[in-house]
Amino acid sequence: MKRRRFLTSAATALVLAPVGFGLSGRFASAASRPRLEMPPLLDTRQTGRVSLAAAAGNMKLPEGPASPTAGFNQDFLGPTIIMQNGPLAAEVGNNLDEAISVHWHGLMVPGDHDGGPHLPVRPGQRWSPDMNIAQQPATAWYHSHVHGRTAEQVYSGLAGVIHVTDGRDADRGLPVDYGIDDLTLVLQDRRFDRFGRMVYDPSMMDVMHGFMGNRMLVNGQAGAVAAVPAGFVRLRLLNGSNARSYTLSFDDGRMMHLIATDGGFLPAPVDLSVLGLAPGERAEILVDFSGGGAPVLMSGIEQPFGVLEFGVDDTIPVRITSLPEELGPELEDLAGTEIRTRRISLDMGMGGMMMGGGFAINQRPFAMDRIDLEVALGTVERWIVRSAMIAHPFHVHGAFFRVASENGAPPRPENLGWKDTVLVAGETEIVVRFDQPAGSSKPFMFHCHILEHEDAGMMGQFTVS
Ligand code: C2O
Ligand code: CU
Ligand code: CU
Repeated sequence: MKRRRFLTSAATALVLAPVGFGLSGRFASAASRPRLEMPPLLDTRQTGRVSLAAAAGNMKLPEGPASPTAGFNQDFLGPTIIMQNGPLAAEVGNNLDEAISVHWHGLMVPGDHDGGPHLPVRPGQRWSPDMNIAQQPATAWYHSHVHGRTAEQVYSGLAGVIHVTDGRDADRGLPVDYGIDDLTLVLQDRRFDRFGRMVYDPSMMDVMHGFMGNRMLVNGQAGAVAAVPAGFVRLRLLNGSNARSYTLSFDDGRMMHLIATDGGFLPAPVDLSVLGLAPGERAEILVDFSGGGAPVLMSGIEQPFGVLEFGVDDTIPVRITSLPEELGPELEDLAGTEIRTRRISLDMGMGGMMMGGGFAINQRPFAMDRIDLEVALGTVERWIVRSAMIAHPFHVHGAFFRVASENGAPPRPENLGWKDTVLVAGETEIVVRFDQPAGSSKPFMFHCHILEHEDAGMMGQFTVS
């Protein structure tokens, strides 16, 4: 696979219209715009319970009509769930008129609790897994995962963020005040028609590239400004988009100090001026706002567009004024412990462009009744993942991995930590540790996290026993 091809398709995929921006690519007048809100908090640490109910809702742009949406416990998206290690009794209800599921993306739970395509919650039914959380602190998320319906359901709003915490972040010198200096940011592009209605009507080309929007939403809001104190602020970024990968940077060039990836903390912050974030990935960064100003988080190199504007608010107390030196334990190097190597190709078959088909893994489109791989519980494997035509974000359920190489080179800095999703543009080698069991009736999935690709068949399933 030639590198140039990826660069070209990435550039042509950047069609986000600069709605809400001046021609310079900056937002128009900040003063009149609403303040960014966080999703409501659902703290499970005292109760040991979490209850989510999917229901229909609606949302509107400031200037537009209402569009139908779906959400958990609210109109669009769901609460931010805070959890700690230990038992967690979950309950998922469904007030929609079609089956949904709740997959815990980034929680290390067995196949029976994973919430994937084999665990649909039909209208009016309930799913109540008694889970046990046992993992490092991390930012994870949850979303519906019914086969063939994932893309539209997540687009409609059936997704939310999870914070797994050990209560020690203040000791680590990290911001901990939700919505004050610890911001949860769900990045999603959505397509609005000329009347301002949010639409999901993928053409064959949209399925090929994944469905892209023409407007940025953060936490379901368009054009809002994030108020921050004049100190270090923690941003927990989730790319909850169906298909768009972001290349994030600040318009004034300020550093992003990467502190955590999908699976948890890095040993120490890593300074980045550009951060790639593909669908399904999370990253936690610290940003220093002590200089004041109104920096804009942008995405894209050639045709950058604004993702979120920040406004320093001097009335917000400053708590963190320096960068912590140490965050988490040294990352365990899995390389050398693999018991086998597998090759995984993410296929968009020839002629697929014409026929709207050809989405497969190792030539086989997803089938609910076929187990593709069998993995031994407690082992480590090396997977060599290749992508066809365009870059594909590759995700594995029920396991974390380390990235060993990308196109023969050492991993990009944002891929140094524990991961469950990685953008594969060419060939990426990952070393995966399988600690969670999954049987053949509730297997784990591995798939492209461009949701249109996943629904079209770029997904497989595996057991761990
Ligand atoms: Cu984020 Cu299989 O999912
Ligand atoms: Cu997942
Ligand atoms: Cu894909």
